[in-house]
Amino acid sequence: MVPLRSISIFTFGFLLLFLCSSSAEQQPFAVDGKVLELDESNFEAAISTFDYMFVDFYAPWCGHCKRLSPELDKASVNLSVLKHPVVIAKVDADKYSRLASKYEIDGFPTLKIFMHGIPTDYYGPRKADLLVRFLKKFVAPDVSVLNSDSAISEFIEEAGKNFPIFIGFGLNESVISHLAVKYKKSAWFSVAKDFSDKTMELYNFDKVPALVALHLSYNEQSIFYGPFEEKFLEDYIKQSLLPLVLPINQDTLKSLKDDKRKIVLTIVEDEDDERSKGLVKLLKAAASANRDLVFAFVGFKQWQDFAESFEVAKKIELPKMIVWDGDVEYFSVIGSDSVEDEDQGPQITQFLKGYREGSVIQKHIISDDYKAFRNSMFLIGALILVLVVILVSMMMQSVKEEPSRVQVDHPRSSTSLSEAREALRSGDKEDKID
Ligand SMILES: *[C@@H]1O[C@H](CO)[C@@H](O)[C@H](O)[C@H]1NC(C)=O
Ligand SMILES: *[C@@H]1O[C@H](CO)[C@@H](O)[C@H](O)[C@H]1NC(C)=O
Repeated sequence: MVPLRSISIFTFGFLLLFLCSSSAEQQPFAVDGKVLELDESNFEAAISTFDYMFVDFYAPWCGHCKRLSPELDKASVNLSVLKHPVVIAKVDADKYSRLASKYEIDGFPTLKIFMHGIPTDYYGPRKADLLVRFLKKFVAPDVSVLNSDSAISEFIEEAGKNFPIFIGFGLNESVISHLAVKYKKSAWFSVAKDFSDKTMELYNFDKVPALVALHLSYNEQSIFYGPFEEKFLEDYIKQSLLPLVLPINQDTLKSLKDDKRKIVLTIVEDEDDERSKGLVKLLKAAASANRDLVFAFVGFKQWQDFAESFEVAKKIELPKMIVWDGDVEYFSVIGSDSVEDEDQGPQITQFLKGYREGSVIQKHIISDDYKAFRNSMFLIGALILVLVVILVSMMMQSVKEEPSRVQVDHPRSSTSLSEAREALRSGDKEDKID
């Protein structure tokens, strides 16, 4: 066998030419950091040539596509030089309709990443720098093995701040490998085999194995010392995907969707003022002692419509704490409605104690605003399914009973909630084909 590295670029190109010539008479693909323009004659050859190919199915008349194009040009340069290079290509899916229908393109642009020829839809960000980060994540090993202090810092540097980072110090990769696969889209995973005492100090652990979770964008880290059994390990990883106390906004809201825990929600007046920051610090302490709950906060000033879903109006005293199920139900704790300025720590403790003892009033979110918000939390498909079920059962009933009326809710729309919906659906195609 000839070692791959010793194959010169020339031979490699020749090899490509040879490989491709069997399917059609065509030139090998130039791998020079430019976006490839593909068509029906060479598309299949391209996806079998490249391990990782990111494809923009566009239409020349679509505005979003035009805006995306320079971003792809920029990203392409950096992605082509990675250890696992990602080739960016585009296809005029309006013109090449056979390809478009084969890959079920129903809007422009549609983005897909082909890994070893297998397509996966891409709903991530479209700005060049973020695109580079996300695609880098796609092609990175499930668990990176780090063999020195500098490998650890390079790994963290490369991972960036978009996702939590897990480092298993002194942990065998086989222990976390399949959880790393399961949560690959949400976090970076690594194990460190060799590291100095300085690294132990830096990450604040005193024995191994230790699994450290870092949330760089929230300046947070936590440590898990075991037991390294499936259930406990997965609980820890799942809980650590969110920061200890999540600031709720249109972007972060969707990250709550995959977490089944109840949410301790604190509504403050203005999340930027010093008093709120002090309170969040106390909430962090409470959060690390109550990992079976998610802690979150939102500013009335920052997102009024959302706050008002929980019976909060200007005249109500803030901060207010409730426990929310992430859907239409929430609980007030009797006697712990609002948090007063003095001694907030004990008040939080009291609130949690009251909640756990069941000293609560159960409430429902009923406002129109919330309905609009909630609609956006569910997949459109699920909604359609529910509607179909309702319609079918109504049709069946109407056979037996008098004709019944179908009432359709038109949620009142408001700017920030429609923005929220937009954020939650950021995966949707913007320009639909009729
Ligand atoms: C590409 O890499 C260069 C050098 O590391 C960096 O300055 C630039 O921001 C990167 N561009 C993108 C789109 O990530
Ligand atoms: C790590 O796990 C693999 C697979 O289970 C095993 O073969 C290997 O011996 C383990 N290494 C250590 C250092 O325990």
